[in-house]
Amino acid sequence: MNLVLMGLPGAGKGTQADKIVEKYGTPHISTGDMFRVAMKEGTELGLKAKSYMDNGELVPDEVTIGIVQERLNKPDCKNGFLLDGFPRTVAQAEALEAILEKMGKKIDYVINIQVDQDILMERLTGRRICKNCGAAYHLVFHPPAKEGICDRCGGELYQRADDHAETVQNRLEVNLKQTEPLLDFYQTTGYLKNINGQQHMDQVFADIDFLLKGLV
Ligand code: AP5
Ligand code: ZN
Repeated sequence: MNLVLMGLPGAGKGTQADKIVEKYGTPHISTGDMFRVAMKEGTELGLKAKSYMDNGELVPDEVTIGIVQERLNKPDCKNGFLLDGFPRTVAQAEALEAILEKMGKKIDYVINIQVDQDILMERLTGRRICKNCGAAYHLVFHPPAKEGICDRCGGELYQRADDHAETVQNRLEVNLKQTEPLLDFYQTTGYLKNINGQQHMDQVFADIDFLLKGLV
């Protein structure tokens, strides 16, 4: 299955991606995760991405498109992929179409997780992430059994630098501006499927899974 997960920051893309990967084993390609790894390793890509991410701005299209193209050409994507957080601009969506055409592939679904803006601030500022395995928790909506410790691997939980309230506000504004034209783009291609992201995360997955069952 060739999938794109769309949604504003905090809509639940990463949470649902984990569930899709667990059930279907589809390679998960998160541009945000790729940039965070590069920043941690101090690579050239990481240095380029850092100033944009720290301010909640988008990393320039040419940088982002390049890393996605490289990743899609890896052998594990031969049987499918799950893009999370890419494309985020119409230019990225057009570039993706061209990359996939060259690979002889097409998108099955663009799954757009819809959540009202006022809920997103609370989700993002309350999010905590495992330093070790990357699992996401929430102080209220999905707390770990033991405060500050990952249920899955015992790793320490931390708050992402861009999840502080000041940066979240800008991230939401920047992403909102890009979202409308991108939704229009995918509406015309016919790939778009809207999912209600304000339900319990297990119900959100049940709705997504209903679509995916038709692909296998
Ligand atoms: P990225 O890492 O992609 O961040 P984002 O889009 O801002 O999305 P998040 O990871 O914050 O949220 P999510 O939707 O995955 O939510 P989650 O499941 O964790 O990008 C970061 C930065 O990288 C960007 O700002 C940009 O600078 C750069 N970048 C990345 N891609 C780019 C691109 N294509 N072009 C240019 N720049 C790019 O859930 C959030 C919280 O809510 C969690 O605590 C979770 O437990 C909780 N939660 C989830 N679902 C539910 C539910 N149903 N009910 C209650 N709580 C829930
Ligand atoms: Zn962990």
